[in-house]
Amino acid sequence: MRGEDTAARSRTAEAPERAWTVATAPGALPLLGHTLALWKDPLGFLASLPAHGDLVELRLGPRRAYLACDPELVRTVLLNPRRFDKGGVFDKARQLLGNSLSVSRGEEHRRQRRLIQPAFQPARIAEYTDTVAADTARVIETWRAGRTLDVSDAMHVLLMRVAARTLFSTGLDERTTDEARECLRTVSRGIYKRTVAPLGLMEKLPTPGNRHYDRSNHRLRQIVEEMITQRRGRPAGGTDLLSILLAVERPDTGERLTDAEVLDQVVTFLVAGSETTASTLAFVFHLLGRHPEAEERTHAEIDRVLEGRPAAFADLPRLEYTRGVITEALRLYPPSWLSTRVTAEDTRIGDRDIPADTMVLYSSYALHHDPRLFPDPERFDPERWLGDRAAQVPRGALLPFGAGSHKCIGDVLALAETTLITATIAGRWRLRPVPGTELRPQPKATLEPGPLPMLCEPRGTTREDDTV
Ligand code: HEM
Repeated sequence: MRGEDTAARSRTAEAPERAWTVATAPGALPLLGHTLALWKDPLGFLASLPAHGDLVELRLGPRRAYLACDPELVRTVLLNPRRFDKGGVFDKARQLLGNSLSVSRGEEHRRQRRLIQPAFQPARIAEYTDTVAADTARVIETWRAGRTLDVSDAMHVLLMRVAARTLFSTGLDERTTDEARECLRTVSRGIYKRTVAPLGLMEKLPTPGNRHYDRSNHRLRQIVEEMITQRRGRPAGGTDLLSILLAVERPDTGERLTDAEVLDQVVTFLVAGSETTASTLAFVFHLLGRHPEAEERTHAEIDRVLEGRPAAFADLPRLEYTRGVITEALRLYPPSWLSTRVTAEDTRIGDRDIPADTMVLYSSYALHHDPRLFPDPERFDPERWLGDRAAQVPRGALLPFGAGSHKCIGDVLALAETTLITATIAGRWRLRPVPGTELRPQPKATLEPGPLPMLCEPRGTTREDDTV
């Protein structure tokens, strides 16, 4: 990581010829600044800012903040964690997620990342995803021809099952999985509400909403705690993520994660990993439903590669077009649409001196919708990610998983899961959009697709039980 720091510093030092444009976002209101614009239409407002400059100054109430709009400036922020510390809205998340990987900083973050990284090696991911196709097949067995299904909801149910299995190999029984999913939704939405609430007073009141949040948070942790206790009682050597987290030790010191740390990490994986992946899949099926040509190409690839057998990790390199569809969905609708850092010291970025304790934001949504980086950015075009065209995308322009030391630790797992699930579902079902349905992405803790009713149509020969 020190290497990354140095590399990024020398890159900025190497590029003095580039003059950065620094602008102030238009439309600041007295006292509120840009808070109202950000609140009313976050995606539209953020996507409008790169047109003003490489670095854009905002007012969030009385405070100045900066949005890094140019990919090189975003990289400078993300690759220099000592100058641009994880923080801003995440200070609140720390209280809610415990001291886990996604909220820890500095040396503590480096310690945790070193301990956990082995659990995300490709060989491990191949093991975790061993049963994804089978789990998916079991869920889609219950779908029926001609039925309308809310794809957003269906993907959340499915992902909770897949996540539970990845984390706890035996999975959870169906009732507990559904309960955990309900708790997770409440906790994830509650974290977002508490993160954006300006004063932090509302959450202390004994309102029914706050009590529901507390109960869900407590129950979710209880479910995970029970799994940890059960796992401790079994012989070591399991290959699920929880077993790995309980077993990992640093080669130099033999140090392990404590039970409390494992609990925080598992809850974080559930919060960070299942909603993001489920939303991505819902966007994928929405986009395929709206683009018959891309859908046809995806189906043809899946049929050719799988020849009717379940999708497996080894098939991933050959599902190239399907992967392009998923990457394009992540570009258009990046689940992690806005993230923040805080300057740890007085520093300089994009020809602007900014003092310590200033919030610096990056928005993958704004980057991904910038026409200078992606021509015709609103067009769904999976071929951007194939062959020579993929090589033309400017460095750092595609950022669904972030970059640098806080880059998503689950990126490879998420891509493997989404590809395997897409291939399994699309091998069997065509999902048609219900006429009149409009996609209204909702920027919350993650970018959510909102309700997406779609009609189930079996592909190929209709099996008798598809129509029951
Ligand atoms: C499509 C799915 C996913 C997307 C789009 C996504 C996106 C991201 C992004 C953008 C970050 C960095 C945020 C920042 O820069 O502040 C991040 C961090 C993180 N993600 Fe993911 N993620 C996904 C799936 C997963 C999965 C499956 C897991 C785990 C099982 C996971 C666990 C984490 C963790 C623990 C962090 C914090 C890493 C650190 O700070 O060191 N994510 N994710």
